[in-house]
Amino acid sequence: MNEPHSPKVLDHEYDGIQEFDNPTPGWWHAIFAATIVFAVVYTFVAEFSPMYTKPEAAHAAASAKAMEALFGTTGFEPDETTLLTLMEVDNGQWIDYAKSKFAGKCASCHGANGQGVVGPNLTDDHWKNVKQVTDIFQVITNGAAAGSMPAQKNTMSKNERVVIAAYVASLRGSNPPGGLAADGEEIAPWPTPNAGGGAEGAAPTNDPGG
Ligand code: HEC
Repeated sequence: MNEPHSPKVLDHEYDGIQEFDNPTPGWWHAIFAATIVFAVVYTFVAEFSPMYTKPEAAHAAASAKAMEALFGTTGFEPDETTLLTLMEVDNGQWIDYAKSKFAGKCASCHGANGQGVVGPNLTDDHWKNVKQVTDIFQVITNGAAAGSMPAQKNTMSKNERVVIAAYVASLRGSNPPGGLAADGEEIAPWPTPNAGGGAEGAAPTNDPGG
């Protein structure tokens, strides 16, 4: 064993240069080995252990929770009952939400009140791509006219698209000032919600307990 601070000079010598035998201390090796062991264990735990929540999963869970707090449900479906019921839900929360989304993503082409700018008037009875209320969701999702109406499939969640579709449907007949002339074909009025009767269970609610 070498004494500290008096390391041994090794035998060999090259061009007059000699070398101290000055090894890294044991504790240093121990830490180095420990980091390798830790990395292996960490990789297995982070990748494969069910006890560890990945950040993506945690984020998805948090978004679902926020959605639930906002809308009272985590999963809106773009069916007629949902859209018509959302239009009628006596709770300004989703309207406010859809309105602010519409202002940010749609108003530049359709006007702040849906009256139409380069995109058509969304408040009258004439539609180009829409025959029934569910078609609004399809147009928002997939776009129309080869992208002049941009698809929102990848820019908005399904819930957002359903809520905006219901909001757009609710604009019908609002008759805002400065509306563009009618474009497309006149279609039948939206059906009355729950016309089939007894569909209570399928209807979304804003009951926080739900
Ligand atoms: C870049 C401009 C632009 C933006 C942004 C835009 N739209 Fe459009 N939208 C259009 C155009 C243009 C059309 C007409 C397509 C056609 O001629 O078939 C259209 C059509 C539609 C239609 C069908 C209208 C009909 O008569 O068939 C709906 C519904 C609609 N847009 C909703 C939205 C919503 C909701 C948003 C925001 C998420 C949005 N649009 C954003 C340009 C836009």
